[in-house]
Amino acid sequence: MSTTQQSPTAAGSGASATEAFRASKERRGGANVDPERVSAVVAAILQGVHSAIREHNVTYPEFQAAKAWLMEVGETGEWPLFMDVFIEHVVEEVTSEQQQGTKGTIEGPYYLPDQARLESTCQLPRRDDEKGTPLVLEGQVRDIDGTPLAGAEVDIWHADDDGYYSGFAPQVPEGNLRGVVVTDNDGRFAIGTIQPAPYQIPTDGPTGKLIEAAGWHPWRPAHLHIMVRAEGHRTITTQLYFAGGEWLDSDVAEAVKPELVLEPQDDGSGTRRATYDFELEPA
Ligand code: DHB
Ligand code: FE
Repeated sequence: MSTTQQSPTAAGSGASATEAFRASKERRGGANVDPERVSAVVAAILQGVHSAIREHNVTYPEFQAAKAWLMEVGETGEWPLFMDVFIEHVVEEVTSEQQQGTKGTIEGPYYLPDQARLESTCQLPRRDDEKGTPLVLEGQVRDIDGTPLAGAEVDIWHADDDGYYSGFAPQVPEGNLRGVVVTDNDGRFAIGTIQPAPYQIPTDGPTGKLIEAAGWHPWRPAHLHIMVRAEGHRTITTQLYFAGGEWLDSDVAEAVKPELVLEPQDDGSGTRRATYDFELEPA
């Protein structure tokens, strides 16, 4: 694993994640704001907070420290980071209960739409001197009945060999290690890229400070983010992990599922190859 010394600041990636989230409002649509639902869910959240206070005899200084911390999360733009690390996995869990096909997992804060469209066999955009072990992800997109889906979009984004995402770290060029790969007539794709490194939540912001104060660790295992779209089918948002990788059993974002772990094999030339097929249910 290669981690980094040259950390982009939490404030930098937090603010970019906030901006990206605001820009995604149109893509996501609005939420149901039925007052009964608001009341039921918010009352349950407050009850959870109240019972934690009673159970642990939370003091006034602790209450004021919590207020100061919440203010800082807002001021540094870290709410998308915090929500996606600590809460999104449960929303994904309840959403996917009734869904068939490939397992989904969290989207996280670093998706950017409208990336380069690439042919089914392709290389992701990368720097001339991009570091990292070459990796090829190949497979097929199918309907749950087994029909290959031609022209499906495999929208992929991942961190570099230092664990940084383009668009959220100043030293990585825009569009790096991102692309929308279109499957061939047989629904197949073969994507050349590099092995991503584990991802570390920025430790210099309030989310990182909380993790440190609690004695937790800030790591996610190395992963590829993938959104698979095909006309007439439900879009899948998922991630693929790497067998034997660090933090696989203790992901801070709790987003690993056993069905999503790749087992890449060295092809003898130093390139790691992994196969994964996606199955989409009708919309
Ligand atoms: C976060 C980062 C990720 O790369 C991810 O997949 C999920 C969450 C985060 O910093 O919040
Ligand atoms: Fe990620």
